[in-house]
Amino acid sequence: MIAATVGSAVGLGTVWRFPAETQANGGGAFLLVYIICVFLLGVPVMLGEFSLGRSTRMDAVGSFQKLSPGAKWWIFGALAVLASYLIDCFYMVVGGWTLEYLWHSITGGLFDNPMGVGADALYHTKMEQYILSPWEPMIATWIIVLANVGILLAGVKKGIERLSNIMMPALFILLTVFCCYALSLPGAMDGVTYFLHPDFSRITPGVCISALGQALFSLSLGMGILITYSSYFPNSTRLTRTSLIVSAMTLVVALLMGLVIFPAAASFGLQDHAMGGTTLVFQTMPHIFARMPMPQFWAIAFFLLLLMAAITSTVSISEVSVAFVKNKFKVSRRRAIWIVMLPLLVFSAICSLSLSDLSWLTLFGNTIFDFLDMLTNNFMLPIVALGTTVFVGWFAPRGLLQGQLTNHGEIRGRMFGFVLFVIRYIAPLAIVAIFLSNLNIF
Ligand code: TRP
Repeated sequence: MIAATVGSAVGLGTVWRFPAETQANGGGAFLLVYIICVFLLGVPVMLGEFSLGRSTRMDAVGSFQKLSPGAKWWIFGALAVLASYLIDCFYMVVGGWTLEYLWHSITGGLFDNPMGVGADALYHTKMEQYILSPWEPMIATWIIVLANVGILLAGVKKGIERLSNIMMPALFILLTVFCCYALSLPGAMDGVTYFLHPDFSRITPGVCISALGQALFSLSLGMGILITYSSYFPNSTRLTRTSLIVSAMTLVVALLMGLVIFPAAASFGLQDHAMGGTTLVFQTMPHIFARMPMPQFWAIAFFLLLLMAAITSTVSISEVSVAFVKNKFKVSRRRAIWIVMLPLLVFSAICSLSLSDLSWLTLFGNTIFDFLDMLTNNFMLPIVALGTTVFVGWFAPRGLLQGQLTNHGEIRGRMFGFVLFVIRYIAPLAIVAIFLSNLNIF
């Protein structure tokens, strides 16, 4: 159960989005708030989702309905499903990028340098070509969507789970190797300082809401996925321990990633490039590989693992909507898959193009890609998290949380008192406070 949940958690969110958000929000200050959000808000929200799922053995919408029939709480479940669908739109695009990079690593095109330009310019040009051109990224995105359709239709979820059990340790080992290498680069310590040393003056409401959104996203919270997962947990699973291990593992991967990217970026002088955070993974990583012995090997290994992480995540995100459509409209699974995935071909293509030919089309000053990312992570996920904690803390049947955390009295559940306190008071108040203070900026 732990492996499956960690498998769902660790994905592009931790590898691609985390360094990007860290950079956009001032380095160490963001990391500090992120860690606080993971343990103070992420863990309780996760326990809330676990309790809902395992006690009702239902999906996101069904579990709210079963516990409070006739009430409107299921709306949070519905919002969770909507958030997952919107996230799918841009997550597919990033998945497409990893596919392109894998492809160009295999053909060697990534390291091809006919003009003999410097490494810095070379990987920047490659990134513009792979990510900012209109056609290639769009086609790669479609391949990812279609791969999702194939996997969902074949129903090889079991195979995917086994795959992610091998992939996770492999990714971990690979990141550790890169980390040792990056830390040995000249000037790496500037990056370490940037990443680990918090500058308290940079902690603003905007940084807090981004850290909260990133914490929820990277733990796969707020989209009903862990409600659904935990509905399959055996009654003997210790929920508190599971949530702590899952959060700690996700955090470790994020820290490792930061300790690869920031030292390397500092050493190569890449910190303030255009295109912000995305540069970090897609430009800095090839830069690192090129300097190591056997660059092609490292590039293929990294992008292959990243692609598999993207596929396992997109499949489970898509599954949220497929399960919802199937149950809600009482259609066959096949039909539900097509109903969900065909429009995604269009939406994800628009997201992809919004970085090139459609970049003139903006919503509130953001490209569609960035708008969806911001809307889901900075608004929808926190709202769902708020609804979940308020419901579990105050409105769910009495004893629900205690029964779930103590396995109905079989284990002590020493953390229960603390968790209940956080779910009732700290988490909702913190989320509301972050929200309100953030609204001032607009
Ligand atoms: N946590 C995943 C990541 O870090 C992304 C994600 C969010 C996810 N919600 C999910 C994955 C639901 C699977 C299911 O990349």
